[in-house]
Amino acid sequence: MPLRITKSPEGVEIVQVSHPSGSRTEINMYGCTVTSFYPASSPDRDVLFVSEKAVVDGTKAIRGGIPLVFPVFGASPDMPNHGFARISNEWKVDSVNQHKQPDEVESDLTEVWFVLESNEETRKYWPHEFTIKYQVQLRAESLQTALHVVNCDDHVIEFQALLHSYFRLPSDISNVRVEGLKGVSYFDKVAGSNATEEGDELAVTGETDRVFANAPDRIHINFQDENKRRIVVEKWAQVEGETQERNSDVVVWNPWIEKAKGMGDFGDDEYHHMICVEPGRVSAKEKLQPGKMYILKQTISIEAAQ
Ligand code: BG6
Repeated sequence: MPLRITKSPEGVEIVQVSHPSGSRTEINMYGCTVTSFYPASSPDRDVLFVSEKAVVDGTKAIRGGIPLVFPVFGASPDMPNHGFARISNEWKVDSVNQHKQPDEVESDLTEVWFVLESNEETRKYWPHEFTIKYQVQLRAESLQTALHVVNCDDHVIEFQALLHSYFRLPSDISNVRVEGLKGVSYFDKVAGSNATEEGDELAVTGETDRVFANAPDRIHINFQDENKRRIVVEKWAQVEGETQERNSDVVVWNPWIEKAKGMGDFGDDEYHHMICVEPGRVSAKEKLQPGKMYILKQTISIEAAQ
């Protein structure tokens, strides 16, 4: 069976998805948070990071995996930090598909669609009618997650959206370099100022919280060790029916020492072993016409480093 639904000891539904190749992923239905991804080639090493102290009983956004940030990024006077999607209990499994192509295991995929519709709770925070369809596609060596926001209202809706992906590092953060952001302007949330990325590779040497606006679609997380593999994050945003891709951003975040100590759901030393590279649209609000659908997609894969 490509899909199994179980309950965590805390009583939260967990969707386990597996692929004929052996790759697998798990989704915690609280906030529809993807919490693990094991490619077929590394059945023992999770590509995603979830803190050992993460609260997984459905009372707090999960510290790790891929929380869904929508419809606001960061603090807002009207709703919880990063919006309500990642803490909603109203997500449902919509459908499960398996595309089989004999002799081509690589391109086979197992796909699950989840859905969140505007409801009494979301209207308290955000008085608009919408449907979000979230597609999780598993292949042998990659995981694709795609948010589809449909404006079901009779007016334009404006929102931010982010696939807040936490990656587990096979070696220390000091060996990690984020590649692909050279020349991109960013807002440095730590310094509170704008800057431009100068180097080919970004090293994390302190608290890092940067919003790279209109970033390129392919980012590498490189490890300078004997591992010889890297994580590739590819992103893509579009409004259905439009030929041109929409601009999208990348947030790079590592809390470092002091911030880690201040987070109750994150171990003091865990900043050594994680990095967030988060595709989305947060540097500006996406404006979506009635009846239209906005798609924000990322593909996460592992490949041999050059
Ligand atoms: C990042 C933000 O996306 O998420 C950071 O850029 C923030 O500023 C981080 O600290 C974690 O947010 P939260 O709400 O999960 O603690």
